[in-house]
Amino acid sequence: MFDLTGKTALVTGSGQGVGLGIARTLIDAGAIVYINDLVADRALAAANELGPNARPLPFDVANFADVEAAILSADPIDILVNNAGIPPSMRAVKFRDLPRDEWGPYVDVNLYGVLNCVKAVLDGMCERNWGRIITISSGAGTQGLNIGVSIYGAGKGAGISFMRHIAMENAGDGVTANTLALGLMQRDEPGISEDQRTVTAKIAKTVPAGRLGTGTDIGYACVYLASEEASWVTGQTIAINGGSATT
Ligand SMILES: NC(=O)c1ccc[n+]([C@@H]2O[C@H](COP(=O)([O-])OP(=O)(O)OC[C@H]3O[C@@H](n4cnc5c(N)ncnc54)[C@H](O)[C@@H]3O)[C@@H](O)[C@H]2O)c1
Repeated sequence: MFDLTGKTALVTGSGQGVGLGIARTLIDAGAIVYINDLVADRALAAANELGPNARPLPFDVANFADVEAAILSADPIDILVNNAGIPPSMRAVKFRDLPRDEWGPYVDVNLYGVLNCVKAVLDGMCERNWGRIITISSGAGTQGLNIGVSIYGAGKGAGISFMRHIAMENAGDGVTANTLALGLMQRDEPGISEDQRTVTAKIAKTVPAGRLGTGTDIGYACVYLASEEASWVTGQTIAINGGSATT
């Protein structure tokens, strides 16, 4: 059950964090996985760490020409996980206080990044009559929050809507398209400050499951959605958040 042997996946932004966990879980389930990241060294290091079934494929998801060229150079993609979603410039600021010239990166990565990658893989999936598209969204895309993430949330919501339409347009061609709306995730990178650790430990206590999410939690959901067994699941937005309230 849930065997991805023989399938090829692309996980965007998988040089670290949630995407790295997703890539590792897909590989454990038998897939070959292209490790994409904006930071080429990160993609290379992650692919190295994950072993022979991981292949680095660095590019900027927001640049259509680069996306197209990279995907053309790769083996046909059966499973696309649109995970890249946090621009390097991300900061928590309320809409009234965020200058106009800072809006772009949130929309570029979360809307255009998803459009670009889907465009580059969808014809091939339809021709082969098999494809799985999974977009990683957030509770910020399904509900209003007062934490200064309105434009990020708008981008995350756009990804959800787009998946629903892609699901309907391509359901007859063996392609499914779904979204995972994540709650707050555990960050373990060396750069995380003690303050950030204290804040996240505090937030973890508000999660009914008593902990923050991990890339592996999300990876298992991706393995299911990518599997043969999930062929009847499409156009859905699934909250994976330890039971936190969603609207
Ligand atoms: N961290 C959380 O608490 C949380 C909560 C809800 C949803 N999410 C979503 O989960 C996904 C992964 O988040 P994360 O916390 O692991 O992020 P992260 O910032 O730790 O890692 C994401 C990777 O994406 C890469 N990236 C950024 N822009 C890119 C681009 N234009 N093209 C290619 N790669 C790019 C970065 O270089 C980075 O290595 C995102 O879509 C995010 O919105 C995260």
